[in-house]
Amino acid sequence: MCGIVGYVGKSNAYDILVKGLHRLEYRGYDSAGVAMVNDSGKLNVYKTLGKVSNLENFCSDKDKSGCTGIAHTRWATHGEPSDCNAHPHFSEDGEIALVHNGTIENYKVLKDALIQNGCTFQSETDTEVLVQLIEYIRTHNDCSLLDAVREALRQVVGAYAIAVIEKNNPDTIIAARKSSPLVIGIGEGEMFLASDATPIVEYTKNVVYVKDNEIAVISRNEPLKLMNLDNEETKIDVKTLEISISQLEKGGYPHFMLKEIFEQPNTLRDCIRGRVVENGNRIIISGVQDSKEKFLNAKRIIIVACGTSWHASLIGKYLIQDMCRIPVEVEYASEFRYSSPVIDDRDVVIAVSQSGETADTLAAIQMAREAGAYVYGISNVVGSSIPRNTDSGTYIHVGPEIGVASTKAFTGQVMVLTLVALAIAELKGTMTAEQIAEIGSTLKKIPDYVAETLKLNDQIERLSLIYTYAHNFLYLGRGYSYPVAMEGALKLKEISYIHAEGYPAAEMKHGPIALIDAEMPTVIIAPNDHLYEKIVNNVQQVKARHGSVIAIVTEGDKEIRNIADHVIEVPAVPECLTPIITSIPLQLLSYYIAINKGKNVDMPRNLAKSVTVE
Ligand code: AGP
Ligand code: GLU
Repeated sequence: MCGIVGYVGKSNAYDILVKGLHRLEYRGYDSAGVAMVNDSGKLNVYKTLGKVSNLENFCSDKDKSGCTGIAHTRWATHGEPSDCNAHPHFSEDGEIALVHNGTIENYKVLKDALIQNGCTFQSETDTEVLVQLIEYIRTHNDCSLLDAVREALRQVVGAYAIAVIEKNNPDTIIAARKSSPLVIGIGEGEMFLASDATPIVEYTKNVVYVKDNEIAVISRNEPLKLMNLDNEETKIDVKTLEISISQLEKGGYPHFMLKEIFEQPNTLRDCIRGRVVENGNRIIISGVQDSKEKFLNAKRIIIVACGTSWHASLIGKYLIQDMCRIPVEVEYASEFRYSSPVIDDRDVVIAVSQSGETADTLAAIQMAREAGAYVYGISNVVGSSIPRNTDSGTYIHVGPEIGVASTKAFTGQVMVLTLVALAIAELKGTMTAEQIAEIGSTLKKIPDYVAETLKLNDQIERLSLIYTYAHNFLYLGRGYSYPVAMEGALKLKEISYIHAEGYPAAEMKHGPIALIDAEMPTVIIAPNDHLYEKIVNNVQQVKARHGSVIAIVTEGDKEIRNIADHVIEVPAVPECLTPIITSIPLQLLSYYIAINKGKNVDMPRNLAKSVTVE
């Protein structure tokens, strides 16, 4: 949820820290702060409510010296957003500064004990308890900061990514993580730390993902050290970043979201690269191969996810049941974990998460693993927490998704779920080689079909002007198009703030049809599939009640074009592949309506890109 940046090296830390915070703004936050320690042992901490630009204004006339520093963007969990509750927090003696991502669940018990021992607190946060605990341990055990951090973390229950600096050691940052992400960048005579790679990639492509229960000692003059909470050194696994800074720039588009919508032909090519081979005759998903016995013997598959990933998962249900004949249940991760699920070792649980850091999804799979289930992850961020807490998995490889509203990750997730279903079907023999080849060869062309669909941009931009000021929308679909309807509704509501509901079209007569009138536009996803005749009836039902209909149809459609108010024609593909195509116009429609309304499409109000707290 929030962002951490750290720097130790030969340059002025402040400039690098603030630039890094700007790179992380997309993650969503409510306040920001920095702490630098200079070579004369002066530790300066500055923090403000609101945007990073507020912090920069505040710091304009302050002492910003020092080549070692940490910085933070906060998304409050304990204590309202305020200057005082912003990070960094510092120890009572003013010698230690700390930033934290996550939640300390036992902070109250720890705080009460510290107060009984004479500690006083400035803020309402759980984080301040940690820095005071570290100071208390260091003082009373007369030990090093590193030992104090290690002992404090032994006492903490919860999720954390932390970075700590101290007055008396201007050469070092101590960092640690459990459940919340941290990445270290290794430069020439300098080191970087961040919640993800975006603040690091312009300086170095050599990174180390800190693992759960690891502590890192990041020093200006020493090699990186990683250790566990038992003070045993752990292996340093350096990865080379595949993303470039240009990927992070908007590439000439006005917003990351539009850039990412138009990236989809290429991101889908990246997604299938090496996985759909021999012109589609063969599907190679190593994660499925490694999990062969589990999928062959699975009595059911449970898919857990949140938000857009849950919609992709619902499409995965239809795909896997269609192709593999395995029963699939799709669960909101947040509900799954509290629903006393009955799980055993013949269950396969698939976690779908773009960020790989969603707290509810992470908790759901940890519960599933404890119950003996085999857990498979589908994520976009290499080395993120969810993939590291699964038995196997598949990355979607669509590159960093900066826009809060998920677009290319959604189509990447649907693509990977399609490939996983085909790979399992091949293992189980529930599809013939010819059937697999037919779908596989079309999959190779999907990026081109998406490119074709993106040519609808201008038509959809014009159409958006007609509906920008509607107050409610209905999105309807059947079969594979039902999850697409839900996804289209989510896209609209999360960036334009217009109320929108996705519904199975046949459910209209059980209630929602009462909503239909001339003020209620209805988007109906109606590709030429086996349910086409039934969806035509739904279009007629809406029109009979003076509702306006925007229909997404297969090019060459003859029937709906004579009934609907607006028709958007997309390329013809096999039914099971329609979601990737029909979702594109819905992404564009929501984008342009939100732009017409002057909304901040990349950072919508109240939302964050990665929900790493409950
Ligand atoms: C989708 O546009 C939203 N950003 C949100 O619903 C998102 O899909 C959800 O928070 C899950 O995130 P994840 O895929 O990173 O787990
Ligand atoms: N729990 C901490 C707080 O509320 C950190 C929240 C975050 O991850 O930003 O300050």
